[in-house]
Amino acid sequence: MKLIFLGPPGAGKGTIADLAVEKLGLPHISTGDLFRAAVKNGTPLGLKVKDIMAAGGLVPDELTIALVKERLAEKDAAKGWVLDGFPRTIPQAEALEGIASADSAVNFDVADGIVVGRLSGRRVCRSCGKIYHVKNMPPRKEGVCDVDGGELYIRDDDKEAAIKVRLETYRKQTAPLIDWYDKKGKLLTIDGVGAPAEVLGRFEKAIKK
Ligand code: AP5
Repeated sequence: MKLIFLGPPGAGKGTIADLAVEKLGLPHISTGDLFRAAVKNGTPLGLKVKDIMAAGGLVPDELTIALVKERLAEKDAAKGWVLDGFPRTIPQAEALEGIASADSAVNFDVADGIVVGRLSGRRVCRSCGKIYHVKNMPPRKEGVCDVDGGELYIRDDDKEAAIKVRLETYRKQTAPLIDWYDKKGKLLTIDGVGAPAEVLGRFEKAIKK
C-alpha cells in the first residue's frame, strides 16, 4: 500500500503515521524528518535547508524530489510506504507520479486554531524523534523522552513567527493538492480532531473501504 499524508502543519500527520505504520508494517517516510536529520548531521543538504526550515518556508522542489527519489529506491520501500509531508507542491506531486503512483492521499482536516495550539505545545525527542505535546500527550517526566530518556526540544519552526509562515505557505502551495488528488479519485479526507486513537480509527476505516 502506498499512502500520502496531507494536511496543515500540526494536523497530526507524524503522530498518526507512527501509529499506522506499526500496524501496516510499512516504512514511515517523512521529508521533514529526513531534512531535520541532514541539519543535525551538518551534511551539505542540511546546510542548504537549515535556514529555510527555521523560517517556515519550503525547501526547493528539486532538492526535495531528489531526496524522496533516493529514499523510495531503498529496499524497505518496495513493499509500500506512508509518505508524510511529501508532496507539498503540484510539481512534487507530478514528479512523484513519475517515480511511483500512490494508492490514496489521506487529508487530515484540522482547523487553524487547533493546529496553532498543537504546534506551540509540541516537544520532540532529540535522539529518537518521538513526538509529545505538553498538554495533549505529555511525557511521564517533563522534558525527558519516555522511550529512550532523550532530551525533549522545541523545533525552531514551532516558534510563533514561523508557524504563521508555515500556515500561509500551506494554504498557497500545499492545499491545492487536495483538489489535485480529488480529481484523480484518490482523496480520503479524515476528521483530524479528537484523540490520536480516535483519528487512527477513522483512518483505518477509510483505508479499508
Ligand atoms: P514537516 O516536519 O513535514 O512539518 P509539517 O508538515 O509542518 O508538519 P508537522 O511535523 O509540523 O506536523 P504534523 O502534522 O506531523 O503534526 P504532529 O504529528 O507532529 O516539515 C518541516 C519543514 O521541512 C517544512 O516546513 C519545510 O521547510 C521542510 N519540508 C518538509 N517536507 C517538504 C517538502 N515536501 N517540500 C518542501 N519542504 C519540505 O503533531 C503536532 C502536535 O500535535 C504534537 O505535539 C502532537 O503531540 C499533537 N497532536 C497530534 N495529534 C493530536 C491529536 N489527535 N490530538 C491532540 N494533539 C495531537
